[in-house]
Amino acid sequence: MEVAVTVKEVRDQVKEWRRQGLSVGLVPTMGYLHEGHKSLITRAVSENDRVVVSVFVNPMQFGPSEDLESYPRDMDRDVAVCKDAGAALVFSPEACEMYHDGFSSYVDMDTLTGGLCGKSRPIHFRGVCTVVAKLFNIVVPDKAYFGQKDAQQLAVIRHMADDLSYGIEIIGCPIVREYDGLAKSSRNTYLNDTERKAALILNKSLLEGKKLIEAGEKDADKVRNVIIDIINTEPLAKIDYVELVSWDTLEPVKKISEPVLAAIAVFIGKTRLIDNFIVS
Ligand code: PAJ
Repeated sequence: MEVAVTVKEVRDQVKEWRRQGLSVGLVPTMGYLHEGHKSLITRAVSENDRVVVSVFVNPMQFGPSEDLESYPRDMDRDVAVCKDAGAALVFSPEACEMYHDGFSSYVDMDTLTGGLCGKSRPIHFRGVCTVVAKLFNIVVPDKAYFGQKDAQQLAVIRHMADDLSYGIEIIGCPIVREYDGLAKSSRNTYLNDTERKAALILNKSLLEGKKLIEAGEKDADKVRNVIIDIINTEPLAKIDYVELVSWDTLEPVKKISEPVLAAIAVFIGKTRLIDNFIVS
């Protein structure tokens, strides 16, 4: 497995693979890889001849008061994880390789990005779309892999790929969880022992909401309120949002009749965690 730090190295490698008639998959990440990321890489390896994993903590998607500086990093371990999972190339550029002096072009979206995480993170999806568009242009993969853990991001990237005619198949992959149900996240490392236990309230509340829907409840507000009430039983938890939205438009729904995304963002102490489920 190779590690590339420049756009040119990636382009040259992919050009060579294309010359050999090989298919290429892309897994974009911000590193500090865990089993969730690894599941994406493994899936990509099973569906493509060669897989590129990008490891880049993208400054553009972090707000001024967010955790860009403290975001966990461990490049040596990330390279080992990628190699172990069967990736062919890791692309880990410096910020100046992706955003040269005078950079001033962005990919933005008028729909899908205003609610959910977009409400409390107003510049986030512009940063995500811009960096993913750049990665798509650099690697030009056949397929790209994203986790349902970041469900809004998955919907936004699907929409962007379609709007901008990338011709890249966007593959959504299921949420990988810890043994006790907490969704795996690089940010879980911020939690101390007490907060780690408190964080279980996210999955617990969602499971109750899901149970209610499976028992036939159609009133989205009722399900939402049950989820809110359960989260509020945890003193360390502060809700950012609890929403039931259409999985198609990401607009809030009143009645649960179409594919619905139940998505939550909750602060546990200072750490903001997200989780969700989709009812189809
Ligand atoms: P990052 O948070 O590192 O996540 C990279 C990919 O791994 C995303 O598609 C995310 O949804 C997926 N992922 C994270 N935790 C997961 C879990 N527990 N189960 C399944 N998949 C999981 O998302 C980003 O980076 C960035 O925004 C990026 C797309 C790389 C753009 O900078």
